Amino acid sequence: MFDLSGRVAVVTGASRGLGRADALALARAGADVVLTDLLTESDPEIERVAVRSESVMAQVMASQGGVHTEATAAEIARMGRRSRAVQLDVTDRQRVREVFDQVAEEFGSLDILVSSAGVSDHRGQIMDLSPELWRRDLDVNLTGAFNCTQAAWPHMRARGYGRLIYKSTVSALQGGFGDASVAATSAGVLGLMRSMALEGARHRITSNAVVAGAIETEGFRTSPPSVVDRMVLRTAMRELGRPEDIAAAVCYLASPEAAYVTGIALPVAGGLDLFTF
Ligand SMILES: NC(=O)c1ccc[n+]([C@@H]2O[C@H](COP(=O)([O-])OP(=O)(O)OC[C@H]3O[C@@H](n4cnc5c(N)ncnc54)[C@H](O)[C@@H]3O)[C@@H](O)[C@H]2O)c1
Repeated sequence: MFDLSGRVAVVTGASRGLGRADALALARAGADVVLTDLLTESDPEIERVAVRSESVMAQVMASQGGVHTEATAAEIARMGRRSRAVQLDVTDRQRVREVFDQVAEEFGSLDILVSSAGVSDHRGQIMDLSPELWRRDLDVNLTGAFNCTQAAWPHMRARGYGRLIYKSTVSALQGGFGDASVAATSAGVLGLMRSMALEGARHRITSNAVVAGAIETEGFRTSPPSVVDRMVLRTAMRELGRPEDIAAAVCYLASPEAAYVTGIALPVAGGLDLFTF
């Protein structure tokens, strides 16, 4: 639908879920895509990286073959686009900078950043929320987005063109019962996104977020069935979304057609963000 030919995109958290779907959709629209993720399937250190991330989800994926960073890059290359898979922890500022600089040099530019790396793998009301996991969520979900923004910015600014696209959640707008760290970090992402819209406008850098509802990804499937059922009942459309629903919005925000759209938090949530009964 949108033509992204000649544009270079970096997607974080691209091994599965929303990031992977975004990468495929951007490539179908014509972009060259660099897929980055904490986990890459041929990494001999994969199990150790997963343990270090303190994410049970990452450990399950690493041990059960749920990592598709390189396979997706190969799929994109078969479409005739340039693509590469890179192991990258978004909390590692130095490495984020190195990888983004390499991408700009090798691919000629870095036009689109889709910040989709995130963790949402634990729930608990305030007194059960572990300070360690709170800090990890802050590091990955919010500081990770900050690190990637800072690393992409000089390349976008130099060319006078950029598309920053973040992921946020409905709980960023409404709060999340037993989900304070995700709600708070996702709300923080919206603050970052809007600030970048203001700072980026003079450089033709747009900054927007997709506010995802309940989308059926590997990450989402770890939610207890009773929670999933309640979320579906609260969704006006009474069904889960698909990663492709989010990816379509990402492609729009990345496109030339969205040149005058900046600072928005676009809900793709089937009405989960509405009052429904
Ligand atoms: N699926 C949903 O319903 C939903 C709803 C709202 C918001 N979101 C947000 O969208 C983002 C993606 O969600 P998803 O459902 O695809 O999750 P997911 O768990 O399926 O995928 C997240 C990806 O991020 C990667 N990752 C985790 N920590 C990382 C790190 N430190 N550095 C680099 N990569 C890292 C994981 O390896 C994984 O590939 C998250 O921020 C999530 O909170 C998801």
